[in-house]
Parts: sequence; structure tokens; C-alpha cells
Amino acid sequence: MQRKILVTSALPYANGSVHLGHLVEYIQTDIWVRFQKMRGHECHYVCADDAHGTPIMLRAQNEGITPEQLIADISKEHQADFAEFAIGFDNYHSTHSDENRQLASQIYLANRDAGHIESRTISQAYDPEKEMFLPDRFIRGECPKCGAADQYGDSCEACGATYDPTELKNPVSAVSGATPITKESKHYFFKLGNFEPMLREWTQGDHLQAEVGRKLGEWFDSGLQDWDISRDAPYFGFEIPDAPNKFFYVWLDAPIGYLASFKNYCDRTGVDFNEFMRADSPTEMVHFIGKDIIYFHALFWPAMLKGAGFRLPNRVYAHGFLTVDGKKMSKSRGTFIKARTYLNHLNPEYLRYYFAAKLNNTIEDIDLSLEDFQSRINSDLVGKVVNIASRCAGFINKRFDGKLSDALADEVLFKAFTDQAESIAKRYDNREFAQAMREIMALADKANQYIDERKPWVLAKEEGKEAEVQAVCSMGINLFRVLIAYLKPVLPRTAEQAEAFLKIDALQWTDIEKPLLSHNIEPFKPLMTRVEQDKIDAIIKESKENMTATATPVKTAENIDPIADEIQFDDFAKIDLRIAKIVNAEHVEGAEKLLKLTLDIGLAEKQVFAGIKSAYAPEDLVGKLTVMVANLAPRKMRFGLSEGMVLAAGPGGKDLYILNPDAGAQPGMRVK
Ligand code: MSP
Ligand code: ZN
Repeated sequence: MQRKILVTSALPYANGSVHLGHLVEYIQTDIWVRFQKMRGHECHYVCADDAHGTPIMLRAQNEGITPEQLIADISKEHQADFAEFAIGFDNYHSTHSDENRQLASQIYLANRDAGHIESRTISQAYDPEKEMFLPDRFIRGECPKCGAADQYGDSCEACGATYDPTELKNPVSAVSGATPITKESKHYFFKLGNFEPMLREWTQGDHLQAEVGRKLGEWFDSGLQDWDISRDAPYFGFEIPDAPNKFFYVWLDAPIGYLASFKNYCDRTGVDFNEFMRADSPTEMVHFIGKDIIYFHALFWPAMLKGAGFRLPNRVYAHGFLTVDGKKMSKSRGTFIKARTYLNHLNPEYLRYYFAAKLNNTIEDIDLSLEDFQSRINSDLVGKVVNIASRCAGFINKRFDGKLSDALADEVLFKAFTDQAESIAKRYDNREFAQAMREIMALADKANQYIDERKPWVLAKEEGKEAEVQAVCSMGINLFRVLIAYLKPVLPRTAEQAEAFLKIDALQWTDIEKPLLSHNIEPFKPLMTRVEQDKIDAIIKESKENMTATATPVKTAENIDPIADEIQFDDFAKIDLRIAKIVNAEHVEGAEKLLKLTLDIGLAEKQVFAGIKSAYAPEDLVGKLTVMVANLAPRKMRFGLSEGMVLAAGPGGKDLYILNPDAGAQPGMRVK
């Protein structure tokens, strides 16, 4: 039966470039969509830029342009990157669009009228200089629990505590440096708790991966909180219809952006929007997302839709995060690779194949090992698949005028290939791409083995073996055609070139079983070349340069902290800073941000829990020198005793750098 499916990928924020981490998602979704289309289903793949929110507003201000200008520029950049990676969106829109404004109000008003919205006054940090309320990440101060300096407004990277921004000690606004005041303001809340029975049932159904369903179970146990959906002006977003100067929080209108993009597409193409949206719609709605945004898609989103009388998603498919060479992508290691940087050096289909070869239907992280990447592409795509065609095509073209024989030399082998069609289809449909790639490559091995055994290059030199040469090579070309059909969702451009070489129409799944007999092909042109090491080196080098290019000291909210109050020399002299050698570093069970360090400071060894896990893996640290505060009173933390602090610079997250003294410094030396 023909399925009608609306498919989305999460909407990338309009304040930065697309990187290889994002591409995991867009490539995963695109492969799935291309597969469904090849199977003859009606499938519409839409996306958009997520254009609203404080970071975008502030970035535009910093650059001296309007937010509209900023999001227009970024949208162009995103779309160019996606197009080169062959991400085949049927529509790409923006959350800052008329369709989205209209749908967001409609969904909000319906929820309000059904009693799911409540307003109340709350107090919040406010920047009196900049005259704006401050989102948590734009406030910095001392942790109310452990006293660590320069922590974000919502959580401490040193001790892992989470708290309310009003609890921070000595807070400053990261926007202006002013001391925030507390100010009251009326906010609008979405009463998520009203949907608890419905959500409990929905999340335990087959809409989510089982592991995701289990995780959500824990959230229900801790109770569903009201969700604050409003923000005060100035804010780049949509004003709430019945509330002047109040704006929808970016995450309210972001998922509605899926529908807005689809609406825009329907208006353009005549597809029936309402058929897809009504509560009893026979169509499917499928969202692909990263594991970090499950809460929004598995709780808020179905609840909002339900409250407005719309259909619910059929599936929310979450994937894991990308690591490079086993570690979080890192700007300093040159593994924070932008889509564009990759495109400057390598064929995008290589990355599509590599991700396919790694992806499954769980939320496990996936690793891009650069060495493995190179050898997989060279051995699988170049060495196995393309090789089949290049070994056979020459004979067919030179000796038989490009004509394939009129019967298959080995019907049994051909059938063995086509018999896999349903099993491979099932793998694609279930998002078990890695397994699909393994099955396809096993077939490619068989095809090569067939040619190796028949040795057309030997037969070609023997008398009276003409027919056999043609038969063997035609068989090889037919096996190649099946493999290309199987790989087409992953390698759409290569498949297109192969179709031209084979002189056939665009391959559909139902074509797989039909061999090409007495059919003329074109001369063969190489479809792919090997990945050379220098290309990979160039990507890493350029990524490092990107980092220095963006690290110019512009004053942005993120990287400049105001200078603290003056202190006396005596205050400073009290601090005993020592060169420390990191002799051991390990993960801490249950701690999101901490690493446990063992530090050699000559006279003693100290154990320190440092909130640097977001930027460093333990193995990066062992053996390094750094600087620690050696005389800080020990503090008991949830995970054990911490006997000091190591010094690090940066706003946090991936941008965090421990101090690293020159070689020559010895553990225990006093830092003065
Ligand atoms: N704007 C929100 C999504 C709104 S959807 C209604 C957002 N944007 S994002 O740009 O931060 O991320 C877009 C998608 O890319 C998300 O699904 C996110 O999980 C995914 N990824 C971002 N970094 C990633 C990796 N390093 N690895 C894999 N996926 C990653 O979230
Ligand atoms: Zn703390």
C-alpha cells in the first residue's frame, strides 16, 4: 500500500554554520526519504531555519545588522551546504515566516481557549543597562553551592549543581557587564500536566524508540512542570496575539515551523495540507531529531498538537551524537569540521556512505574515525563497487559495441542478488543502515569473486571465447546495476552517473529484479577516486584555521567577562598557585561535567574534580602540566573530596582551555 509521509529533520539554528554533527541527522533523514520515494511512497521532506531567540538577536546586534538580514544570510549558507550534500529537501523555509506566525497563533489560541495556558508573575534577572531580561546562559556568577567563580546562570561546571539564576552570587550580565537586578514580569505557561495521561500512553506506544520511552518514564515520575512559553521584549520572535510586548519563546514556534514549511510547500504544489493535519489523518508524520531535543519532541510537541486538535506525530526517531576519532568534536584538535570545510576537499557522497555504514536505529553516539573513513571508502566504494563496473565495461564497449549479452550467464547468482531486495528494504525502513551496508558489501564481494573466477581478461586473449567474455562482463554489469540500486538512497549522485552509464531511467526499487539484456551501455567514466591522506589533513588544517579566524578578540557576550572588583596584593598573595602534573584523569560515574584528576605537585598528590569534561577527554590530559590552586580548603562533593582547583579559561562548553605551562616547568613550582 502506498504510504503518505511527511518527514522532517530538526531545524538548524540560524546563528551558526552547519557542521558534520548536524549532517548525521540530515544525511540519516535524507537516506530514509530517498529510500521511501524509491519504493514508490508519497513522501514530503521539509525543513527550515530556526530563526528566533536571544542568541540570534544579540549576534545580529554585534554584527550591526538586523536579525532579518542575519537569518537571510545564514539561510543561504545552510541551503548551499545542504544542497551540496545532496540533502533533498522538498521545501526549506524559515520559522520567521507568515505561515509560522499564523500557525503559531492558531495553535496557541486553541490551547488557550481549551484552558491549557495560564499566566502568572515571576521574577527574573534583568540587565538594567541593556534593559532586557537575561536568559540563564547570559548571566555569570559564583556557584551558590560551591562558590566556583564564573558559572552559568543555571548550573555549575565545577560541582555540577543546578539552581535558579537568582541564587547565583555576585552575578553579572554577560551582555553588558552590569549587575542584574531582579524584576517581575508576567509570563505565560503551557500546562503540560494537563496532558499527563495522554502523554504517558503516547510515549509508551510505538511512537518512540523503546530506550527513549523508558527514559521518559523517569521524567513522568518526577512530575510534569508547567512550561514557560513567553519572553519579554526585546526578543526576536513572534508577539503573542493577546499579550502585547510578550513573545513566544523560540521553542514554542520552532516545531510549529515544521508545519509552516509544509504549509508553504502545499501552497506551492497543491498537496492537501489539511489532509495531513487533521486529527484522524490517514497520513504519517515522522520527525528525525538528535537525542538532546527529545523532551521538546516527545512531550511539549505532542501536547501542543493535541491541545489544538491537530494530528500527532507517528514517529519521533532520535539519533546519537557524532564524535570524531572517539572524542567530542574539538576546535583546537581541528575536528570541529564545518560542512563547507569538508566540501572544499572531499566528495560529499563519501561522508554519506560512511555515516550510513555507522548508523543504526538507537541513540548511541556514532564515531567518525578518520582512518577508518579513508579505508572504508577506498575498500568498499572504490575497491568493491565501482571496481566491478570498471573491470567489465571496457570489454563490452571495445569488443561488443557497448552491447550486453541477451541472457544472464548465471541466473542463480543474479537471483541471489535480487532476493535480498526485501531484506535490504526492511533494513532501510527500520533505519538499520549499517546492517544494510554490510549486506550490500557482502554482495559486492560475491560479484568481484565471480569476475575473479571467470577472469575475462584471460578469456579475452583466448581463441573462440568471445561469447563467454561478453556473457561474463554482462553478468558483472548486471550485478553492478543491482548494487547501485541498493545504494541509491545513500549515493544519489553516483547512482545518477551510473544510470547515465547504463543508459537506463532513474532506478526504482521494483526495477531491481529486471536484468539488462541485449541492452546498450555508454563508455565507462570513473565514478569515484580514492580518498588520499592529504585531503583529510587539509580538512583538519582548515578547521584549525577556522577556529583562529573566529577567535579574533571581538567583544561578544560569550567570550568577554567584565573585570572583577579590585583586590589588594595580600589577597592575591594568599593564593598558592602550583605547577601540577596530571598523572591520572578519569570519568566520574554520574557526573555530567566533571573529570577526576590526580595531580602531582611535587610535595604531594591532590585529587581534584574539575568541570572540564565538555572540553577534554581524560586521555588528552594525562601527562600534561597545568596550574592549580593548591591551598584551597578541601570541599566534600557528591563524588568525593576535591582538594583544590585547576585553572582554565573560556566561556565553557567546548571552549574551555586549561592553563598549560611551557615545558621546563616542574611539578610543585610555585606560580608567581
Ligand atoms: N533549533 C533546534 C531544533 C529545533 S527543531 C523544532 C536545534 N538546533 S541545532 O542546530 O542545535 O541542532 C539541529 C539538529 O542537529 C538537532 O537534532 C541536534 O541534535 C543535531 N545535532 C547538533 N549537533 C550534533 C552532533 N554533534 N551530533 C549529532 N547531531 C547533532 O537543536
Ligand atoms: Zn558549584
